[in-house]
Amino acid sequence: MCGIVGYVGHRPASDLLLDGLSRLEYRGYDSAGIAVVEDREIAVRKRRGRVAGLIELIESHPVEGSIGIGHTRWATHGDPSDVNSHPHLDESGRVVLVHNGVIENHDRLKARLSETGCGFRSSTDTEVVAQLIGWHLEQFIESGHAADDPETCWSALRATLDELEGTYGLGVLFRDCPGHLWAARCGSPLVIGVGEQEYFLASDTSPLIGYTRDVVYLDDHDTARLGRDEIEVRHRDVGTRDVAVQTIQDEAVDVELGEFPHYMLKEIYEQPDSIRSAMRGRMDGDDATAVFGGLNADAGELRRIDRIVLTACGTSWHAGLVGEYLIEEFARIPTEVEYASELRYRNAPLTDTTMVFAITQSGETADTLAAVRECRRKGHKTLAICNTVGSTIAREADGGIYLHAGPEIGVASTKAFTSQVTVLALLALYLGRMRHMSFRAGEAFLESLEAMPELVARTLECHDAVREVARRFADCGNFLYLGRQYNFPVALEGALKLKEISYIHAEGYPAAEMKHGPIALVDERTPSVFVTPRGGVYEKVVSNLEEIKARGGPVIAIAGPDDERIAGLVDEVIPVPDVPEFLQPLVTSIPLQLLAYEVALLRGCDVDRPRNLAKSVTVE
Ligand code: AGP
Ligand code: GLU
Repeated sequence: MCGIVGYVGHRPASDLLLDGLSRLEYRGYDSAGIAVVEDREIAVRKRRGRVAGLIELIESHPVEGSIGIGHTRWATHGDPSDVNSHPHLDESGRVVLVHNGVIENHDRLKARLSETGCGFRSSTDTEVVAQLIGWHLEQFIESGHAADDPETCWSALRATLDELEGTYGLGVLFRDCPGHLWAARCGSPLVIGVGEQEYFLASDTSPLIGYTRDVVYLDDHDTARLGRDEIEVRHRDVGTRDVAVQTIQDEAVDVELGEFPHYMLKEIYEQPDSIRSAMRGRMDGDDATAVFGGLNADAGELRRIDRIVLTACGTSWHAGLVGEYLIEEFARIPTEVEYASELRYRNAPLTDTTMVFAITQSGETADTLAAVRECRRKGHKTLAICNTVGSTIAREADGGIYLHAGPEIGVASTKAFTSQVTVLALLALYLGRMRHMSFRAGEAFLESLEAMPELVARTLECHDAVREVARRFADCGNFLYLGRQYNFPVALEGALKLKEISYIHAEGYPAAEMKHGPIALVDERTPSVFVTPRGGVYEKVVSNLEEIKARGGPVIAIAGPDDERIAGLVDEVIPVPDVPEFLQPLVTSIPLQLLAYEVALLRGCDVDRPRNLAKSVTVE
């Protein structure tokens, strides 16, 4: 994970780097650090903990210079300590770098370098890269290359990259070549911001906002050299390649917290709007269907599909499960949902008429990206349902659908889930209407969908009721989340939210499956959250609920408005509006997001930066 920033230009680098790191902190917050070069001196400031701590350090120990790199870490190798913080220097002090990713052969490389007398300071995999560049640089200098020649630096960098196994996004500075900033990418995202006599480097576009909208995305095996007035990108084995500057759109802009205390709460409350954005321009009332601009698949091709594979991780995988129910019900196409981390290594038999959709908020999740690449390698059309414009998966997929939800900063995904479900509903409608779904059924589908932003806004009125429930149960150590049909994935998602941000053990289950084992967990200190709005399986879920009550377990129900029957049975009711069954996840997931949020607050947890997690999981 981690966030990388870099700057070369005419302004004081440290201000820009710290600003960028603050915006990237959601990607990792074990430590933060910067390195700035001035007068052939590398100054490094780094420390364990948040960017705020680094800012204090730099206030008391400022650094001068207008070229630098910065990093916010999500530790993979080595504990989160000052010494393991990035940037890392080589032994000679000539090279300094920041790294996002994992160097898989770091042990072997470290052993080899240690034999040459190289002394390591940290226990990270990253330091090996700095030391190896330093070692190659030394060899080039000894054989007559000038230390201040950029070609020497390119060569040392290239020789090092050729030896690395694993993933990296790197920002590198060479002490003796001070006007330049190098970047290299293999598996971890990097984007270059193009300004007026200045260039920026970042893991994603958020640090660039307010500075420039013109960007260059690096591809795997690209290395780049940035000077104040120049940019050069080289691709492995190909040499210098053309640099395509793209302009990013307005939607990347809103990263301010505004009146909300946490991003998670802000994003929960944005859902009426984000769902509206996911539908905007995609509803075709004349033909009672959906329209998508970027699928890159014609109607003939889509009509031939006889199987769909949805692949994703975490919350996006839960949205995929809702997608399976939607596509099978409305388009009648057999659909499977695969964990990307499993699909990538499984030799799954995909036929010519199988279409793969990767679902991802960030577009950078390493497992999902690997699954996309594996499917494409085998010749399968692979489309992305993605939020982040310009992300690696969005760029590598054969086509896709953007969520247009705006940036999601809270580590616990909320609005991305409801936007994914909205897009999957539109997809089910689209595929259904080109098969056997009637015009009238298409119209009714669209009408129901159109009403959702308003209904989701009304659902948010349950917040006070949720607060009460949280107060009553926040000190329980275990929760069960139970639902059936469309609300089974919602139960999984509710349990994940609670686990992630409040660190309470929670399990999601299909409500009827609970009696095949998990019911043994039920006692008076284990609340069961039943997702039980009115619908086809209502009676069945009520029976499951009674089974829990009979065993003395407290029950919290997410139920339809004025449901007296449920109210008479359970300990707490959180009401949600009545909506058609296939759209229930859009409302029933909301109180579960709020419940996790309120419980986490009561337990004093850091809602936006839960322990051990990071927003984008760009390592395997
Ligand atoms: C959700 O709350 C999680 N933090 C996590 O499960 C996330 O959904 C998962 O890592 C997938 O991310 P993506 O959608 O960006 O690919
Ligand atoms: N593997 C490196 C470390 O543990 C980089 C991790 C990251 O991407 O933040 O320091």
